[in-house]
Amino acid sequence: MADVASLGLYGLGTMGSALALNILDNGFALHVANRTPEVTERFRAEAGPLGAGLRVHDSLEAMAREMPAPRAIILMVPAGAPVDDAIERLCDALEAGDTIIDAGNTDFHDTRRRTAMVEARGLTFIGMGVSGGEEGARYGPSIMVGGTPAAYGKIKPVITAIAAKFEGEACADHLGPDGAGHFVKTVHNGIEYADMQMLAEAYGLMRYGGGMTPAEIGARFEAWDQGALKSYLVEISGKVLQAVDRETGHPAVDVILDSAGQKGTGRWTVIEALKMGQSASAIEAAVGARGWSSEKEARVAGEEILGTRRGAVEIAAETYEQALLAARIIAYAQGFRILGAASEEYDWALDFARIAEIWRAGCIIRSALLDDISEAFRGEMPQGALIFAPAFAARLRESLPALRAVVAAAVQAGHPVPAFSAALAWIDTMAQARGTTDLIQAQRDFFGRHGFVRLGGDAGSHGPWWE
Ligand SMILES: NC(=O)c1ccc[n+]([C@@H]2O[C@H](COP(=O)([O-])OP(=O)(O)OC[C@H]3O[C@@H](n4cnc5c(N)ncnc54)[C@H](OP(=O)(O)O)[C@@H]3O)[C@@H](O)[C@H]2O)c1
Repeated sequence: MADVASLGLYGLGTMGSALALNILDNGFALHVANRTPEVTERFRAEAGPLGAGLRVHDSLEAMAREMPAPRAIILMVPAGAPVDDAIERLCDALEAGDTIIDAGNTDFHDTRRRTAMVEARGLTFIGMGVSGGEEGARYGPSIMVGGTPAAYGKIKPVITAIAAKFEGEACADHLGPDGAGHFVKTVHNGIEYADMQMLAEAYGLMRYGGGMTPAEIGARFEAWDQGALKSYLVEISGKVLQAVDRETGHPAVDVILDSAGQKGTGRWTVIEALKMGQSASAIEAAVGARGWSSEKEARVAGEEILGTRRGAVEIAAETYEQALLAARIIAYAQGFRILGAASEEYDWALDFARIAEIWRAGCIIRSALLDDISEAFRGEMPQGALIFAPAFAARLRESLPALRAVVAAAVQAGHPVPAFSAALAWIDTMAQARGTTDLIQAQRDFFGRHGFVRLGGDAGSHGPWWE
């Protein structure tokens, strides 16, 4: 097994147990431990015949002690304090040459801090983003690795074996140092938020504006999954909308409280974007929409107090499909802009084409577009912007009228479409050579003497209001 003699995994929850079965399925021997030791016994039973290569241990320390060196231990526990705690305990139990791999959804700042701390103690640290949910973890996730190339070299055979495959090629790679893997995973999740929100907005319009049933909308999603929108999220949306609740016989979506959860990766994407002077409007809108959705009681009151009623909309199926395509391109493009800004800020030299490639299978945002995105990044790209790459600019020119029609109809009839409209606002801004921030600059100069760049003249100019 490359440069490690033994592999361990700590944290046998949803993701950890699925990943462990995947590792065993690929013929690697594996040591496991869990905070609650009974869970390891349950896991041994679950592993069945795969358990031949499995060693279970009562605690993290016992596992570390009994594993032959050099060891590599994967942590699959909730991000934050549990990871710090496990690392602290492992730093005491491990020795030089051993590797700790945090495979949870960790904030990349924590990964940078931990990498420095762990490596100062003579151990190796890897921050690894894993996408694909439980099924991905079991049968092949997309894996984004951050750390030194040498550290990745130690575990590469395992990682490439357990990763999803796209046309036979592993959807896993080393993307950069320390926090790079976790950052790319964070932005992946940000794009996921935007894409999910846009699909939900289209569903809302078809249902509450178009009078369609969930099953009819589901069938539409199913059909779209055969075309340009082909993707995991469209596929599962089609299935979900056609599912029926066993207890009530109603559409399954109708028995679900319309209040979305979030664990932080979408928010982190937006926070990091803003810190770098960027804005990912579609992702921001999606994070905001989840936040608003959780104010259920206020929304119930709002329906009464404000009295706005959603009206009918008439939008053709093809228009929705084109609008979703335009919006999806914009969400990906905004995600890659954030990756570009971070790559410069942290000197990561991220390979955007490669990132698109490893998202082509296994992960939640896998879609037919990603192959074209990787090709676009390898080809001509004016201003380094995906929206200007010839193939994408052509697709946007074709599909933007549909996005505009959908946003206009929704706004007119009182349907909230925050992600669609935020995506459109950004692209419209990027399509104007002359914008309106001349007035902003004038205002800033007026009240704060901030100065402005005079066209064809100097920076630091002031307006006549100061004469
Ligand atoms: N679920 C997904 O779709 C998904 C996808 C990608 C990434 N992730 C990330 O993967 C990581 C694990 O998620 P999960 O969905 O597998 O979580 P989970 O099902 O809740 O499992 C959590 C695991 O961590 C252990 N644990 C919890 N608190 C602990 C603590 N303070 N100290 C030590 N161990 C502790 C639990 O042990 P006990 O048995 O003792 O409770 C359990 O084994 C998270 O960072 C998550 O964000 C999840």
